[in-house]
Amino acid sequence: FGTQEINRDGHLYIGGIDTKDLAREFGTPLYVYDTALIKDKINQFKKAFDKHEGITWQIAYASKAFSTLAMIQLVNEQGLSLDVVSGGELFTALKAGMDPKRIHFHGNNKSESELAMALDARIGAVIVDNRDELELLERMCAERDQQIAILLRVTPGIEAHTHEFIMTGQDDSKFGFNLANGMAQQAVQQALQAAHLQLIGIHAHIGSQIFETDGFTGAIRVMLKHVNKWTRELGFALNVLNVGGGFGICYTEKDRPLPITSYIDAIVETAEEECARYRLPLPALWIEPGRSIVGEAGTSLYTVGAAKTIPGIRNYLSVDGGMADNIRPSLYQAEYQAICANRALEPKTNKVAIAGKCCESGDILIKELMLPETCSTGDLLAVFSTGAYGYSMASHYNRIANPAVVFVENGEAALVVRRESYEDLIRYDVPLKNLSPNI
Ligand code: LLP
Repeated sequence: FGTQEINRDGHLYIGGIDTKDLAREFGTPLYVYDTALIKDKINQFKKAFDKHEGITWQIAYASKAFSTLAMIQLVNEQGLSLDVVSGGELFTALKAGMDPKRIHFHGNNKSESELAMALDARIGAVIVDNRDELELLERMCAERDQQIAILLRVTPGIEAHTHEFIMTGQDDSKFGFNLANGMAQQAVQQALQAAHLQLIGIHAHIGSQIFETDGFTGAIRVMLKHVNKWTRELGFALNVLNVGGGFGICYTEKDRPLPITSYIDAIVETAEEECARYRLPLPALWIEPGRSIVGEAGTSLYTVGAAKTIPGIRNYLSVDGGMADNIRPSLYQAEYQAICANRALEPKTNKVAIAGKCCESGDILIKELMLPETCSTGDLLAVFSTGAYGYSMASHYNRIANPAVVFVENGEAALVVRRESYEDLIRYDVPLKNLSPNI
């Protein structure tokens, strides 16, 4: 992917830098991001929209996929909008200098203090998820005598073909207002009456890692059918149709994502068709890609440690990271491709399982991987496509410190997240003053 290449000595280079040098300088485990590829993905989305004349669009990077100051700065510099889902993501965005007008706030249980933070910062839009939030937000805005643009999140009853845990658009979902049973219509009515909320549109996110366009087009059809009804019955004017994120990427050769233009063409054309059918003006089209912007740009580097062969059963190679820096294999049975980054040209004749170092049998990063026979202790393993939901879902299980993150481009590396130290791990611990039972 991107600027990854293997040079003559069999070393993997990313952004023009030998991964062996990156490991030496920054240590392992290490998240390496190829920023040229991030920018390339962003451009693919922009170009895909630009091709269609007469439409207004916005791309909001879903920062849950990977949020750090440097990443948000990059996103801001590229002119994208930003989707945040918590006070922490909002704080990161504001600290990174993101234009608040281009921030959209998501979440099914935003607290009053998180909403206050959003209102203080005068962010662009809140995507309201439920009735309690609608009422809370109107009350807060009334008290502050402030207006805020909102979108209502709806569930269009579309089941995207993906893992159950990352499927979000179906009727039985914790997210959003149900379209089928009239909950959404009621919410529209209520929002239209709320003096301090400007209802600018609706939002749906049907799932993640999606390889087909029919989930998106189906959701658009359902949403616009309802919008048509609300336009006639409630005088609602749809300015924004937000279809969420979920565009699939390649983890292994089994994954066959569509070109970005195919998703965007399908979204734009379906919205145009359906609006023409109902004689509705075409709204601005918003999307919220996360994984497809950063996923393939990220590579995790590990150092190989213990090697064990159970004759006739399996060969294990253990690495110095695992489920603490990438929970996806154990949480979603996610599959990854990897190579021995310093022996990339040697024949792959040895079938191994890549084990993480956590005290948990399920901490296996890759169940079956072909590696050179010689790949052993001290070698470097590069796991590809770990840029989305790796660092952002990292944990401290087993009191493992979070790895560092570097951005690489044009032969230069910039450290963007420092490696945590042991001291960092106990930073918030408050020791007992004495060991008496009356603490
Ligand atoms: N918009 C909304 C409202 C979302 O809920 C999500 C993802 C996105 C956008 C971005 O979706 P993406 O383009 O990244 O697929 N932790 C899981 C993924 C959870 C996705 C949750 N929502 C994973 O590691 O696969």
